[in-house]
Amino acid sequence: MIEKKVAIVTGAAQGMGYEVFHALAVRGYVAVGIDIQEEKLHKIKGVAEKDKLAVEAFYADVSDSTQVNEIIDQVYRIYGSIDVLVNAAGVLSQGEVTTLSDEAWERTFAVNTSGVFHVSKAVCNRMKENKQGSIVTISSNAASVPRTSMASYCASKAASLMFTKCLGLEMASYGIRCNIVSPGATDTEMQRAFWNEEADIEKGIKGIPEQYRVGIPLQKIANTSDITEAVLFLLSENASHITMNNIVVDGGATLGAQ
Ligand SMILES: NC(=O)c1ccc[n+]([C@@H]2O[C@H](COP(=O)([O-])OP(=O)(O)OC[C@H]3O[C@@H](n4cnc5c(N)ncnc54)[C@H](O)[C@@H]3O)[C@@H](O)[C@H]2O)c1
Repeated sequence: MIEKKVAIVTGAAQGMGYEVFHALAVRGYVAVGIDIQEEKLHKIKGVAEKDKLAVEAFYADVSDSTQVNEIIDQVYRIYGSIDVLVNAAGVLSQGEVTTLSDEAWERTFAVNTSGVFHVSKAVCNRMKENKQGSIVTISSNAASVPRTSMASYCASKAASLMFTKCLGLEMASYGIRCNIVSPGATDTEMQRAFWNEEADIEKGIKGIPEQYRVGIPLQKIANTSDITEAVLFLLSENASHITMNNIVVDGGATLGAQ
């Protein structure tokens, strides 16, 4: 058994998940990344190991509880504890409700909602044994404000947000804190799916009246580091009396509505 604290991060192959995974490794955790992009996992593991960081990287689809349970069991067998979990894996699906396919709806919920349930359940069963732990789910500001052509995404994120709050209530007596970070538009591959041309970035910042979007009062798109800082704070001892809370990191885009 080793002394280092162990952090699990889903969606670690790129974007926010990668940034959080790397930041936790730099802060001395054994950072365990889970993702479905094997090649990218291999690459990020190699880069981290070159920097002498303690990392592990595993293929698992968070929508598949069998795969998830196998990985979590394996990590617990090796390290004897799981201290921190960040649910960052997510998928975006766009399309108006009247034409949205059943498959798109189901896949969005399978990853964004059931995925959070599967990983959190497996991890909490381990955290309970050690009577401590901290979990952050990355939801979205779209969980609290309706968006056109994003019903499945908005609903799946609202569900994962409320799931995480309920989990926090059930886990409080075990000393396990569960919180949420809700980003707004953040520069990652997922966000770039909305940008067909340079002008789309500016439109998003200024607001798009025909979509009832008010724009971003702080007048910029977030970087992954903006999100990572909020996640690290909630995971840290500085947040030791905070649970079932949601930090919205969106430059004011949802005008403080949660
Ligand atoms: N980028 C934004 O503007 C934005 C805004 C609000 C919320 N979010 C949320 O933040 C989180 C991170 O998003 P991002 O922007 O870094 O996205 P991203 O697409 O860059 O990264 C998501 C990662 O999740 C992984 N993933 C997807 N499905 C998976 C599955 N079934 N099992 C395991 N891994 C899986 C992907 O392979 C990818 O590495 C997501 O939950 C997303 O919904 C993003």
